[in-house]
Amino acid sequence: MIRKRERRRPHHNANGFEGATVKDQRPGGTEAFLQPQEAELARTTARLAIFEAGAFIREKFQSRGPLAVESKGTFDFVTDVDRFCEDLILKRIRKAFPDHTLMSEERPIENHSPSHVWIVDPLDGTTNFIHGFPMIAVSIALAVHGTLVMGWVLDPLRRELFEARRGYGASCNGRPLAPLRESPLEDALLATGFPFRSKHMAEPYLQAFKDIFLHVSGIRRAGSAALDLAYTAAGRFQGFWEIGLKPWDIAAGALLIREVGGTVTDFWATENYLQNGHIVAGSAPVHRFLMEKIEPLRKALQGPCGS
Ligand code: IPD
Ligand code: CA
Ligand code: CA
Repeated sequence: MIRKRERRRPHHNANGFEGATVKDQRPGGTEAFLQPQEAELARTTARLAIFEAGAFIREKFQSRGPLAVESKGTFDFVTDVDRFCEDLILKRIRKAFPDHTLMSEERPIENHSPSHVWIVDPLDGTTNFIHGFPMIAVSIALAVHGTLVMGWVLDPLRRELFEARRGYGASCNGRPLAPLRESPLEDALLATGFPFRSKHMAEPYLQAFKDIFLHVSGIRRAGSAALDLAYTAAGRFQGFWEIGLKPWDIAAGALLIREVGGTVTDFWATENYLQNGHIVAGSAPVHRFLMEKIEPLRKALQGPCGS
């Protein structure tokens, strides 16, 4: 059971996007946010960009040629492939929607109209990509007036495109994804990410991990949050949790899950996961279970060393 007592919420916005706040809170389908022609242009633009980037990534992954790898911070890398794909995607979006704001991983935000924000991860799973581990993705989402309206996650190696459109469901390669099913917890396969940038969180993370692990069938750490969420939407995983993520890791995946009837919140049961980067997702019962078990992490995040 989730304890009902009031919890102190971290008051900082860890992802620092006051200027382009993105929440997932307004009701209504895509048409409440975009004209039909605008939605169609967004869809064709995003698909073109994601397939182009995906083809480039696939070619580079398979050829195993030399890679220019730069360290952005501790345990955090970027390659020339991330940058090339980012340019390619942003160029496409800019051309179709010169007034929209572009928020993407490897560049400063391009602030234009604050009402329309594209959120782009040109290569999710860069560490996997560098090591030749085949779990990587490209993720693009569009938020309008702070609400996630459209989202795409492409697995370029398996050629799977996950698409979500607010109020219209989600699909994989054009086939609609079924609403999430409730299955017994002991059958659940979950996904998570390790707090590799915040190793001071290892203790509470492992405490929560152990408690979750003891109750479920299995847990995977595949190294691409965008794919973890897309797989949760597709029913391959029954739930996902991770701390310290960025909007581009989770925006499209969160919409995918919402569109198949799943629950997505931050660690305090609010919709501020894009702002603080701490996310819990899954079918309603799995989400409830995870919210109970992540208590050690929640406490640590509220403490003086919380990230
Ligand atoms: C990373 C992946 C990984 C998650 C990291 C992210 P990147 O994205 O999504 O699964 O654990 O926190 O930063 O840096 O490879 O785009
Ligand atoms: Ca990422
Ligand atoms: Ca990335």
